[in-house]
Amino acid sequence: MIKIAIIIGSTRPGRKAEAVAKWVYEIAQKRSDAEFELVDIKDFNLPLLDEPLPPTLGQYTHQHTKAWSAKIASFDAYVFVTPEYNHGTSGALKNAIDFLYHEWVNKAAGFVGYGGATGENLRLVMGELQVADVKAQVGLSLFTDFENFSVFKPAPQHEKSVTSMLDQVIAWGGALKTLREKQA
Ligand SMILES: Cc1cc2nc3c(=O)[nH]c(=O)nc-3n(C[C@H](O)[C@H](O)[C@H](O)COP(=O)(O)O)c2cc1C
Repeated sequence: MIKIAIIIGSTRPGRKAEAVAKWVYEIAQKRSDAEFELVDIKDFNLPLLDEPLPPTLGQYTHQHTKAWSAKIASFDAYVFVTPEYNHGTSGALKNAIDFLYHEWVNKAAGFVGYGGATGENLRLVMGELQVADVKAQVGLSLFTDFENFSVFKPAPQHEKSVTSMLDQVIAWGGALKTLREKQA
């Protein structure tokens, strides 16, 4: 069974990311074809990238990098829960992604975004990291899925979108796990 991280992509006090990620996790828990874990980048206290060598070398000097590396390496696929900050993802999530390299390679990913053009710019980043990002995507609106732009009340149809996205992440995540095992 493959292991999938649902990554909380904002560290902002009062963030919406946590409620969205927990909703995704609850939907995911209804299925038995993968194992899911909520991963909060906030828990890793990552500073702005402070490793002297490029992550492609995997020679980490800091304990926070080693802990983040071990956590991310333990999964076969990822669901990134991402806000939209100036039509991009959050700096916190991009920074956390940039800390590592091989931990991401030949894994699968899906996106759950809230805002306007969420997730799209992360696809460029995934390409560089050799992550297979799936087509099915969950797009939540700050206008219609959050009461008064703050309390998360997702429209019912989004559960189906989460399921479609997870179906693809699990299929690709499983195929890439087989590939990595063959390469090992
Ligand atoms: C720096 C910044 C930039 C933002 N840019 C956008 C944007 O381009 N489009 C948009 O729809 N919302 C934008 N927003 C609104 C965020 O989507 C909204 O604040 C959301 O709650 C942020 O996610 P978070 O609460 O999980 O951190 C921006 C918010 C911040 C803090």
